[in-house]
Amino acid sequence: MLSIRGKKVVLAVTGSIAAYKAAQICSLLKKKGAHVYPVMSPNAVPFLGPLTLSALAGHKTIVHQYEQGEKIHHISLAHSADVMVIAPATANTISKIACGICDNFLTTTAISASCPVLVAPAMNRSMYAQQAVQDNIQKMKSTGKYYFIGPQIGNLACGQQGMGKMTEPLDIVKEVSLLLDKTSQLAGKKVLISAGGTREFIDSVRYISNLSSGKMGAALAQAASNRGADQVVLVTTESQTSLDPMVEQIVVQSSRQMKQALLKVFSDMDITIMAAAVSDIVPRKRFDYKLKKKNDILSKLDFEMNENILKLLAQQKKEGQLLIGFAAEHGVDTEQVLEKLHEANIDAIVANDISRKDMGMGSDYNAVSIISRKGKRTDFQRAQKTVIAAQIWDFFIENFLQKRKA
Ligand SMILES: Cc1cc2nc3c(=O)[nH]c(=O)nc-3n(C[C@H](O)[C@H](O)[C@H](O)COP(=O)(O)O)c2cc1C
Repeated sequence: MLSIRGKKVVLAVTGSIAAYKAAQICSLLKKKGAHVYPVMSPNAVPFLGPLTLSALAGHKTIVHQYEQGEKIHHISLAHSADVMVIAPATANTISKIACGICDNFLTTTAISASCPVLVAPAMNRSMYAQQAVQDNIQKMKSTGKYYFIGPQIGNLACGQQGMGKMTEPLDIVKEVSLLLDKTSQLAGKKVLISAGGTREFIDSVRYISNLSSGKMGAALAQAASNRGADQVVLVTTESQTSLDPMVEQIVVQSSRQMKQALLKVFSDMDITIMAAAVSDIVPRKRFDYKLKKKNDILSKLDFEMNENILKLLAQQKKEGQLLIGFAAEHGVDTEQVLEKLHEANIDAIVANDISRKDMGMGSDYNAVSIISRKGKRTDFQRAQKTVIAAQIWDFFIENFLQKRKA
């Protein structure tokens, strides 16, 4: 567990009978060399003395939002930590965080944290089975910031048996280590991502575009930032509000603007993913006034094939750079994708089937197939785009970055 040594871990404890186990998590983290900063919800205090955690951690346990002095402590702690662990996490705290409620020091810190947050739920089986709790867990998972471990099936404090027992401290600490490894997987790398459907203006008010929302590209950018990339640049047609500030957004409209923005930084990037849906056709001329309906518009409409930005980048690609394209088609035809791959110097294509109504362009869901130059195809089943983004990065890190290093 080398990755824990020297890392700043916020250990957050909520009002569950399992709170006593946080003392063991704290000592295990300390033994592995972490700097542990304990935080407790006021409702956790009857279950575990803050003094116990302060003594084990060597740092004062913070319980109350307004007990601090000169610093805005929840912000400084949330932004300087490498990882936050909420163990045990009650149904109440999970649901508050999912809804953005910051009514105590713990929830305020979790919500403002820029590091990954590992959540270990602990509760009665009927609480865990509640739709509201399940929905809130899904909501948190979909952000890409919150990771869950457990709960498990076991003997519960109320005397019942079932799903709701907190994962054992040693397994939680192992998971912290894996999470910290993940957060440094892209360290030293510069990542460039394009997203959204381009708008090709016909006149001063009309344009042709497509249904792409830019959500897939945004999820890839956020996931790259979560994995510790040195720089993440997102060239997007839709401004994305939910990304952490580390992602540099360049908002463009047309494919020409997108090309210029990409070319400006491309040569300096280690990994480029073209997730944008760039228009295949563009008007030959953009009129700077609104074309008249009568006699004007139909006679003046004239389109030409657009430049292929992905191919252009492929021509400029240098040794060591990774270039990945996206292909949106009705059905995924491996042979067709391979043709595209061999036409240009691209390392892999992420293909998605746009014939399905329950995912793809504009939706929060996707299912993709990654096809590499050698013809290997790996399929990822329908899931939220944040989940698919994490799977795509797992795949590229394992198959391209780690293999190159080996
Ligand atoms: C003895 C006892 C044990 C409890 N254990 C749990 C638990 O394991 N999980 C849970 O979600 N709530 C549990 N609760 C209820 C929470 O303490 C309650 O929902 C509280 O509001 C949680 O506050 P917090 O999330 O701010 O810590 C327990 C309550 C009592 C009295």
